[in-house]
Amino acid sequence: MNRLWEEKLSRENNNIEAFYPHTPVLLETSVEFLITDPSGIYVDATLGGGGHSRAFLQALKGDAILFGVDQDPEAHAAAAEKIGEDTRFKPITGNFGYLSTLISPEFHGKIAGVFFDLGVSTHQIREPGRGFSFQHDGPLDMRMSDTSGTSAWEVVNNYDYEKLRDIIYHYGEERLSRQIAREIIDRRPIETTLELRKAIENVLYGRNIIKSVARVFQAIRIEVNRELDVLKQGLSDALGLLKSGGRIVAISYHSLEDRIIKNFFKSGNFEGVVEKDFFGNPLKPIRVITKQIITPSDEEINRNPAARSAKLRVAEKLMEE
Ligand SMILES: C[S@@+](CC[C@H](N)C(=O)[O-])C[C@H]1O[C@@H](n2cnc3c(N)ncnc32)[C@H](O)[C@@H]1O
Repeated sequence: MNRLWEEKLSRENNNIEAFYPHTPVLLETSVEFLITDPSGIYVDATLGGGGHSRAFLQALKGDAILFGVDQDPEAHAAAAEKIGEDTRFKPITGNFGYLSTLISPEFHGKIAGVFFDLGVSTHQIREPGRGFSFQHDGPLDMRMSDTSGTSAWEVVNNYDYEKLRDIIYHYGEERLSRQIAREIIDRRPIETTLELRKAIENVLYGRNIIKSVARVFQAIRIEVNRELDVLKQGLSDALGLLKSGGRIVAISYHSLEDRIIKNFFKSGNFEGVVEKDFFGNPLKPIRVITKQIITPSDEEINRNPAARSAKLRVAEKLMEE
């Protein structure tokens, strides 16, 4: 356990839920769809605070294995507290974009299910020092791991106008992307999250200012963590790890992520086009289990507003020819 974590825990009077207050989304549904073999080998590719993993372990027998992957060391510390001593649970620190490297070759082709619950956890958003939040002042960071790589500061202060505008438009789906990109560039250097928020607010009008600020922050976070490319790599790797009949269960919170998942589950590629053989028979390594997307109930959204944009999809690996 690192020093930062220890200090925080003692400040919070050893209350793990207070330090890592993440409520797992679509919990029962995730367990139902993921666990097809109670003695199987599973991967939670986005361990977070371990809420889903704890429920998976409760549904698994003594001979099962659950690998818990997260690139954020703070998430691992929280998950370890929540899950406790459990020899079936194997934590792995790393990026799920490298899933096939993170999981030892002896398990390749033997995995019964891989679970993705994308995005950031409530904890990461609430921690001002991580720079994800536009509600607290903090450094412009937004990296999900503590390793090197582009930070939000570099995106905000070094990207040229076209690149910044496109990120805000495509990843944030924000209409005023041109004006916001121009304002950010005019105000450089921008050092903190609240300075960035002020720059964005300066060009907005109407009732949905907070939504637009959230969209721009989300766009920058997606760019910093290369979330869409990493998701594609993670899904491809997950399929490679599965045994026939093994499942991928994915919860996304952003339309671009959902489109990537939908296309991949439909066809095994990211264009969503099913290839056919000479006779016109479909050639695809995967089949969709959930014909309709699954979303949280009104009751769950009331209890946990962070769940409101969640979409869950499930697919199953087909027998290899
Ligand atoms: C929404 S939270 C998961 C919450 C978890 N299901 C729970 O119940 O506590 C997403 C987690 O995925 C992690 N994450 C996001 N992208 C990742 C990636 N490419 N590789 C590894 N972990 C990632 C984040 O650090 C975060 O802890």
